[in-house]
Amino acid sequence: MDGMIHVENLTKYFGPVLAVDRINFRVDKGEIVGFLGPNGAGKTTTMRILTTYLPATSGIARVAGFDVMNESMEVRRNIGYLPESVPLYPEMRVEEYLRYRAILKGVPRTQRQKRIDYCMERCRIREVRRRLLGTLSKGYRQRVGLADAMVHDPPILIMDEPTSGLDPLQIRETLNLIKELGEQHTILLSTHILAEVEAVCQRVIIISSGRIGLDKSMSELARDAAVTVLEVRGPVDQVTRVLETTDGVTKVAVQPINGDLATYEVRTDQDSDLRETLFQRVARNGWTLRRLDLRQRKLEDHFVDVVLRDSAPAPSRPEETAELRSAG
Ligand SMILES: Nc1ncnc2c1ncn2[C@@H]1O[C@H](COP(=O)(O)OP(=O)(O)OP(=O)(O)O)[C@@H](O)[C@H]1O
Ligand SMILES: [Mg+2]
Repeated sequence: MDGMIHVENLTKYFGPVLAVDRINFRVDKGEIVGFLGPNGAGKTTTMRILTTYLPATSGIARVAGFDVMNESMEVRRNIGYLPESVPLYPEMRVEEYLRYRAILKGVPRTQRQKRIDYCMERCRIREVRRRLLGTLSKGYRQRVGLADAMVHDPPILIMDEPTSGLDPLQIRETLNLIKELGEQHTILLSTHILAEVEAVCQRVIIISSGRIGLDKSMSELARDAAVTVLEVRGPVDQVTRVLETTDGVTKVAVQPINGDLATYEVRTDQDSDLRETLFQRVARNGWTLRRLDLRQRKLEDHFVDVVLRDSAPAPSRPEETAELRSAG
C-alpha cells in the first residue's frame, strides 16, 4: 500500500553533481514529517521533484498515488507547495494574487472567495489583503506563500523552510498553524530548527549528502534517547552480566579502557532512570564506580551523528568519470 508520499530509489544528478542518491521513504496519511539536513543535503531538490518542478534522474516518486513524472497534473492538484523562496508578482495585490492562483489551480468559482477568505484568515494576512506584494516584508511574503499553498485545499502540504525569515512570534503562530493543519493534512516540511521538529513533527527524516541517514518516529527517538554511562573497575564479563540482567536494561555496550577498567553504555527500555539501581548493583559486588551519568540523546545528537557519518564526498556519475578519463 502506497503512503501519501512514496519515494523509491530516487536519484538526481545536476550534471556530474549527485544531489539525491537513491533515497527511499514514505509519508503516511495524516503524518507531519520533518525533513532535516545540512545545507546542500538535497532537501529542496527532493521537494522540487515531489512537487513536479524538477525531473528526477531515476527512481520513483508517487504523491497521493500519482506518479510525479507521468501524472503531474493530478500530483499538483493534491499538493500545496511552499517553495524555499516564494516567487510573487510585486505589482499584484495580496487578495488579487490569491484569486489568480485559485483560478490557476482550478478552484471552482462558487468556492473561490470562501477559500481565499479562509486562507487569509488562517495565515493572518487579512489586514494586508489590499497591499502590493512588492511592498510586503519577508514574513508577510512567507505567509502569502503559505496561503497560496493552501488555497486549493490540497490533502498534502510540502513546505520548504516555512519559518525561515519569520520573527519569533510569527514562528510560533506558523508552527501552531502547521500543527492544526496536520490534523487534516499530510505534511512534509524542511527546517534547520531542530526544536521546530520536536514541537510539531511525528517523524523525522535526516538527509545528508543526498542520502537518508535516519528515518524514525519521535517516539522511537525518545525510546532510545536515554543512555546511562558507567565507568567501572571490575571483571568485564561479570560487570557486563550484572548490568545486562538489571530490570529495565535492554542493551549494554562495553568499551574497555585498560585492564579491568571499562566504560559501559547502558540502554533502557523506556525513559526510566536506573542510576541508583546500577550504582547499588556495582557497589554490592565490590567493584569501583568511577563515573555514572545519564545522557539524554537529543535530536541534535542524532543530527550530528548522521552528518559526520555521511560527510565523505559523494561519488560522481560513473560514465562521466569515464568520459573525463578518456578525455584526459
Ligand atoms: N539547479 C541546480 N543546478 C546545479 N546544482 C544544483 C541545483 N540545485 C541544487 N543543486 C545542488 O544540489 C545539491 C543539493 O541542493 P539542495 O538545494 O537540494 O540542498 P538543501 O538540502 O535544500 O540545502 P539548504 O539547506 O541550503 O536549502 C547541492 O550540492 C546543490 O549545489
Ligand atoms: Mg533547501
